[in-house]
Amino acid sequence: MTAGTLYGIGAGPGDPQLITLKALEILKRIKFVFAASSTRNTYSLAVGIVSPFLGEDVSVELVGFPMTHNKTELRAAWRDNARKMLKHLRKGKDAAFVTLGDPTTYSTFGYIMQTIRETDPDVPIKIIPGITSYQAAAAAAGRVLAEAAESFTVVSGAMGAKGLEQIVDHTDNVVMLKIYKRFDEIMDTLDRLELGEKSVLISRCGLSNEEISFGSHYDNGLHPPYLSLLIINKMKG
Ligand SMILES: C[S@@+](CC[C@H](N)C(=O)[O-])C[C@H]1O[C@@H](n2cnc3c(N)ncnc32)[C@H](O)[C@@H]1O
Repeated sequence: MTAGTLYGIGAGPGDPQLITLKALEILKRIKFVFAASSTRNTYSLAVGIVSPFLGEDVSVELVGFPMTHNKTELRAAWRDNARKMLKHLRKGKDAAFVTLGDPTTYSTFGYIMQTIRETDPDVPIKIIPGITSYQAAAAAAGRVLAEAAESFTVVSGAMGAKGLEQIVDHTDNVVMLKIYKRFDEIMDTLDRLELGEKSVLISRCGLSNEEISFGSHYDNGLHPPYLSLLIINKMKG
């Protein structure tokens, strides 16, 4: 029997109107939908975004990714999650793994894809790109990410300001995702590098409570939510 196809679908950053037509076409016909949730959280924003477009009798399953750096524990979770999808794929059924923004950008889809490829290389995998959080955020803030011969670099703030400090002298524009945990350290570093005034903080882009703060004028002392990112245009002003 020919295996079903696993689609890695980018749901976009929040506004359902930013789902691509290609994603929509697959979402309307697919019967098995998966998405990641942390083991502490049973909600998936990606599922929330796509659910109005799903057909009837669709099975939606959240698969857990433990909040740990323990590689053995993580691999066991990826294998377990992959098994849940393979159950349908091996019966010739298509399945979708939906992810916030784009599946190739800081997404758990990468781990699923790798594990499925290792476990069953015959399963076809197709990636349907999504609009990333930072593309939507740049548009919402009216900022350009790069023009002419400028460069731009995407870094993670998960480890604090280190990523920013390493690249700041070598790029013209920076996008920093995952800033919420080490936010104070990141903002202090921006000020020290005199980049505060050139930055914009966008939270919950495309959602009902979206917030955009230019320069260092964010509400100091308040911690931004998980869905927050920074755009820094060094050449600006
Ligand atoms: C695990 S990464 C997912 C990135 C996603 N795959 C993408 O293409 O944008 C999560 C981080 O993306 C950013 N993010 C995702 N959606 C966002 C939104 N609607 N508004 C602001 N930031 C968002 C935040 O920095 C968040 O901490």
